Amino acid sequence: MTHPQPIAWRGDCLRILDQTRLPAAVEYVDARSAADVADAIRRLAVRGAPLIGIAAAYALALEARNGADVRAAAAELVATRPTAVNLRWAVDRVLAAWDGDPARAEAEAARIHREQIEADERIGRFGADLIVANATVLTHCNAGGLATGGIGTALGVIKTAHVGGKLVRALVDETRPLLQGARLTAWELEQAGVPYEVIVDAAAAGIIARGNVQAIVVGADRIAANGDVANKVGTYGLALAAAAHSVPFYVAAPLSTIDVATPTGAGVGIEERDDAEVLAFAGKSIAPDGSAARNPAFDVTPAALVTAIITERGVLRPPYGASIAASMKQAVAAS
Ligand code: MRU
Repeated sequence: MTHPQPIAWRGDCLRILDQTRLPAAVEYVDARSAADVADAIRRLAVRGAPLIGIAAAYALALEARNGADVRAAAAELVATRPTAVNLRWAVDRVLAAWDGDPARAEAEAARIHREQIEADERIGRFGADLIVANATVLTHCNAGGLATGGIGTALGVIKTAHVGGKLVRALVDETRPLLQGARLTAWELEQAGVPYEVIVDAAAAGIIARGNVQAIVVGADRIAANGDVANKVGTYGLALAAAAHSVPFYVAAPLSTIDVATPTGAGVGIEERDDAEVLAFAGKSIAPDGSAARNPAFDVTPAALVTAIITERGVLRPPYGASIAASMKQAVAAS
């Protein structure tokens, strides 16, 4: 099974697969400074919570190597996208390791990258155990290798279930407005040889109601201490439909996505993006000139709707306040 390589560290630059061009073109941009990486994160050339953390970590390594102001770069990077906590987490790790030595910053960035690849494998195995035989599994946005650098979190579960012979097909929400599902998840599943069908976001509830979905697996941008989950806009609606029809709703995410400093989902900053993303489709305007729009990039799913959170240290169950605290404690003890 092949997986995408969305970033590659080259020593003097970070080579980034430009995800805005997929699936039409496979093109790379070479980021040579933290400002270049920040720009790539802002325009979603590189995206997905774990991957923007890893890219920001390498950005600091570049900055340290260039003899530039690493702390100013850290502030710029953290400000690029407000919702995914992995960004701040990875930047803090590199700042703590750096100590004025570029080699230490680079080694820490590489460690964060390697740890995510390993976490994906473990999440994939824990998650695949939860999938019943011959399942149709629905996913939203792209929580694949394009979002993590490994096999992916939610897509890692789907790919591992496929390899284990459990999966009939994946259902892929197109994920308006930027189509991460249709453009990126479908591209990745095609490469991995996993059968899939793309659906418009609005079709999901009806297909779930007809009993044609055995599980929903999504990623997360931030999980609060109580288990509330911020993820791509539309996730909450899926969770409501899943609960109404007794379909399990799983969130697959590394522990680095859990933010114990945010008590509940109400404290998660939701990124608002440009109106133009909503008012146009494939570069063409779809609403009357002068239309206003709302464009929240994420929403919050209450913990009560989440069947389980699949992490690299195992499957967390409600009550999440307790299971998250215990898992984070174990992780600190093991590090
Ligand atoms: O705006 P994006 O494309 O960065 O949003 C990504 C998501 O919402 C993913 O589900 C999340 O980051 C998890 S990626 C493993």
